[in-house]
Amino acid sequence: MSNGAAGTAQARIEQLRQRRAQNELGGGQERVDAQHARNKLTAHERVRVLLDQGSFQELDPFVVHRSDDFGLDRQRIPGDGVVTGFGRVDGRLVFVYAQDFTVFGGSLSETHAAKICKIMDMALKNGAPVVGLCDSGGARIQEGVVSLSGYSEIFLRNTLASGVIPQISAIMGPCAGGAVYSPALTDFCVMVRETSNMFITGPNVIKAVTHEDVSFEELGGAMAHNSKSGVAHFAAENDEEALYLVRRLLSYLPRNNVEDPPRQPPETSVTTPDLTLNDIIPDNPNRPYDMRDVIGRVVDDGSFFEVHEHFAPNILVGFARLAGRSIGIVANQPNVLAGVLDIDASVKGARFVRFCDCFNIPIITFEDVPGFLPGVAQEHGGIIRHGAKLLYAYCEATVPKITVITRKAYGGAYCVMNSRHIRGDLVYAWPSAEIAVMGPDAAVNIIFRREIEAAEDAEATRQRLIREYAERFANPYVAASRGYVDDVIEPAETRARLIAGLDMLGNKRDTNPPKKHGNIPL
Ligand code: HXC
Repeated sequence: MSNGAAGTAQARIEQLRQRRAQNELGGGQERVDAQHARNKLTAHERVRVLLDQGSFQELDPFVVHRSDDFGLDRQRIPGDGVVTGFGRVDGRLVFVYAQDFTVFGGSLSETHAAKICKIMDMALKNGAPVVGLCDSGGARIQEGVVSLSGYSEIFLRNTLASGVIPQISAIMGPCAGGAVYSPALTDFCVMVRETSNMFITGPNVIKAVTHEDVSFEELGGAMAHNSKSGVAHFAAENDEEALYLVRRLLSYLPRNNVEDPPRQPPETSVTTPDLTLNDIIPDNPNRPYDMRDVIGRVVDDGSFFEVHEHFAPNILVGFARLAGRSIGIVANQPNVLAGVLDIDASVKGARFVRFCDCFNIPIITFEDVPGFLPGVAQEHGGIIRHGAKLLYAYCEATVPKITVITRKAYGGAYCVMNSRHIRGDLVYAWPSAEIAVMGPDAAVNIIFRREIEAAEDAEATRQRLIREYAERFANPYVAASRGYVDDVIEPAETRARLIAGLDMLGNKRDTNPPKKHGNIPL
């Protein structure tokens, strides 16, 4: 090669480096500084925090928008407001896109959307999760309907990829208007407190239409969506924590629906009985206790990763490990509303069960449920429709499903919470279990009403009947005598029994009748 040619090659490499540096700087130093001043990382910084060091392979860094309208011809910024590519999390392949607020406010143009669609297509073809880091002013206003077409293309891919590869969204800035439907279609949504918000219409439009005064944070901030709407599953203090949560979440998940979840090396003392569990249920059946204490003592140390913590806290859902195996946990929480099932709890549980079933994650159910929540608001709000979602989700799930009834399993809730009748593979009950149509108090008032009314001492008669009923029905042995409960176990041996159960179910194969898809009551 001549010196002249080598010089040209060097110049070209230098030019490439300059272009890369320009792409890294996004909308310019001033806007990068503004992003940092808001306690937000830039898109490239976020991707680096998310992925294993040095693993990011950026694609399409030189893509620019195609529109010349409203002065756009004078501003073409390489990358067009979104950083896309692939990399590794704990050594496992992940596709990622990160919107860059410093470029046209991260707004979505035709080419910005095409970049996202490209990595979604690659993720689907190669069977790896997609993580979207959202920080965007929405549709690129100057591009009009072309931008809307871009959103539609993304929504379609979110839907087609659902149940095939895990999709995770982190909202790290604004996410407004129809743009919210992409994160809403994904499996999990993390929001950053104070710096992120999601809404269909913002505070100004709301003020004009309904005259309500509401701040961005109150309307669509991290806690609004974590605790009220249920749109978001995690609330992070800052960008770093949000990205850590995404990494941790991915550690429990397979890369796609035909892979098993990753298995960590099993602990050494996997089956040592935990005798403290034998004392965890209060003697008084109406006293609450924290189901997290049960879960924490049964699963591998520190492995419980709660999902949707702030929404419907009367039910707990989350991932954990048992002897290194990923499991999904669904548990009534007696500490909140006595663990009753209401509309929000049903929807929360149903969505989680369905996620686990999509991705081959066994489901362990801890049950202590007095029933469905009574009340006009619940009935008129559709507890029948929403409760049916949880029932449907458990019925259709074909992954290994094990239930531990710690205390109450009453009425319809007994059927719903992964009973054997709806294909629960193993159902264990603690000696404290009470399995019946309803609790002794309510039952006696109904079936012995006449007898109580006729009695000389009505209250004494009622108490005697309650005692008799409790002795007859408020225990696990009626169910166990029929085989509805596979065994009554000491609480201390729960961990060992679950590990053995999961081992036994390791090759479980079960299917549903062939169909296009079922019709879950939405
Ligand atoms: C083009 C946009 C933009 C957009 C922001 N920018 N949003 N450019 N299209 N949608 C640009 C701004 O002009 C500005 O450019 C830069 O991004 C930063 O915006 P600022 O307003 O200065 O930032 P900030 O004060 O932080 O306010 C952020 C914001 C605000 C709240 C997001 O920009 C905003 O309200 N944007 C419009 C939001 C919106 O209504 N979008 C459409 C939603 S409907 P310079 O050059 O000054 O840095 C929608 C439909 C999707 O998205 C439908 C899918 C089905």
